[in-house]
Amino acid sequence: MCGIVAYLGHKPAWPILIKGLQRLEYRGYDSAGIALMHQNRLQVLKKKGKVDDLARAAQNYPTDGSQGIGHTRWATHGPPDDINAHPHTSGNQRLALVHNGIIENYALLKKALEKEGHVFQGQTDTEVLVHFIEELQHREQWPLEEAVRVALTRITGAYAIVVMDRDDPGKLVAARKASPLVIGVGNGEYFIASDATPIVEHTKRVIYLNDGEIATVSLRDNLQIRTMNNEVQTPYIHELDMEIEQLEKGGYEHFMLKEIYEQPTTVADCMRGRLNVEQGWVRLGGLDDHLARVAQARRIIIAACGTSWHAGLIGEYLIEDLARIPVEVEYASELRYRNPILNEEDVVIAISQSGETADTLAAVELARERGSLVYGIVNVVGSSIARLTHCGSYIHCGPEIGVASTKAFTGQVTLLSLMALVLAHRRGVLAESDFRRLLLELSEIPGKIAQVLEANAQIAYIAGEIKDRTNAIYLGRGYNFPVALEGALKLKEISYIHAEGYPAAEMKHGPIALIDENMPVIVIATNKSAYDKIVSNIQEVKARKGMVIAVVEQGDEVISQLADYTIEIPPTEEPFTPLLSVIPLQLLSYHIAVMRDCNVDQPRNLAKSVTVE
Ligand code: F6R
Repeated sequence: MCGIVAYLGHKPAWPILIKGLQRLEYRGYDSAGIALMHQNRLQVLKKKGKVDDLARAAQNYPTDGSQGIGHTRWATHGPPDDINAHPHTSGNQRLALVHNGIIENYALLKKALEKEGHVFQGQTDTEVLVHFIEELQHREQWPLEEAVRVALTRITGAYAIVVMDRDDPGKLVAARKASPLVIGVGNGEYFIASDATPIVEHTKRVIYLNDGEIATVSLRDNLQIRTMNNEVQTPYIHELDMEIEQLEKGGYEHFMLKEIYEQPTTVADCMRGRLNVEQGWVRLGGLDDHLARVAQARRIIIAACGTSWHAGLIGEYLIEDLARIPVEVEYASELRYRNPILNEEDVVIAISQSGETADTLAAVELARERGSLVYGIVNVVGSSIARLTHCGSYIHCGPEIGVASTKAFTGQVTLLSLMALVLAHRRGVLAESDFRRLLLELSEIPGKIAQVLEANAQIAYIAGEIKDRTNAIYLGRGYNFPVALEGALKLKEISYIHAEGYPAAEMKHGPIALIDENMPVIVIATNKSAYDKIVSNIQEVKARKGMVIAVVEQGDEVISQLADYTIEIPPTEEPFTPLLSVIPLQLLSYHIAVMRDCNVDQPRNLAKSVTVE
């Protein structure tokens, strides 16, 4: 969703801000803008469309100055156009502000400000906020940081903001509540951004602003952080564990393809130091201090959204199957609003790649309030969910830039596999020989993912055969049912083909009515336990002339006779099949989207981290 980048220092701000906005493009947006400060003048350039459109439009304007704020906007209040794009300025053209999030009481404030004579250009809640700060500044003669602080105490909603004042150059004021902000500390210069991606090429020293904090960075007085109650905070500087190469395509045509191909490495990274086959142990540092409580939980509730929710469903199969603890998987957005029965006997696992998803964050808050232990499975280090949960584990996949989640999904499933094994061992519900066999098998998954990737050319061919269809059905059973859901989601979001995932046996309860010669049916048919049943499901599809693309285990001779196309994956233990069977589905969606000329890395209407409800 929206992205913020700001710079204050001695270098030309424009190229830093443009590059920073390009780094933030992956979050999803529909307009972009930059405000620069130069010789006590404020210059604002903003445009509907891409950052490149903004850069082109700016060619005829001065772009001097070593202080500025930039923004990519994902429209919520008001259409995506030049006027609603950020930065927004105050009526007196003194203040410029960028904002991520939603100001819920903006309509009331707007009315009150209009009565005071304020005139608004667009429809955004953000414009109301900058006018409100202006009003307080004007009325009380407060310095910028005080006007911002008081304004924020009077608004409800979520925000990350950066503001600058034409009459107070050399200073940026930033604040956050439920929307992330990172401050990069360079040599006599500061960078502020929604995440570390625009900062890492300039400095690795960062401060993660906490909820309810306001930071003032100034070329005169350095950096000061205060709470909303005006208490001074001591900033903690973290060293970023991110390399610039991770933010580049590295020779691949798209980030999504790069990230699909990274999976042998990212899955291995997720397991590194957590599993030892020779010595027969598996361990999650984040779980150590809470292991007894989690192992004795009355039940585990997994809360997540989208692809992370699909990983959670696999987690349910894994934890119930191996560790024998009851698990429920909830859409975070439903959990938070339905007065769930949660208490201190429950453990809630929040799964999120970005660590910023608003609904998942709210579910974490709710679970904490009800006394449950909350465990986070997160990719982005230092993100809000990582910091709000009681404990947790990072999946260590590195930045995921493609909007469609791929390597984070396999990272989450790997982490849940490790967790199920840790809990199974602790509870003594798995025979030592089975435990050891599963450890060995899990350790071999990265190599097997690499083998699956070798089918890329064949999968591209199959993609060509179905690229013009308008619908698709994905079927799977057991561990592969969530994979069917994930395959369908991948196809929908990047190729805009309507697709549905079903448990294979459910097909005859309705979806079978859709099957004819125009319907591709992608069947994940690697299950050992329900093999005959899935063969019957395939026969039912073929009897109705559906086209079957089956993902099967190497050497399968029965399904390859029935299906129109088969894609083989190496054999593995059933609990780990999703880690292999999802790979062909990721590649299939990718190739179809490329063939349909879709914007693979930034699909329409989608945002990488969904920080609004
Ligand atoms: C799908 C996708 C989304 C996210 C969902 C949750 O490819 O990326 O469905 O999985 O928005 O995001 P996180 O995991 O960041 O909480």
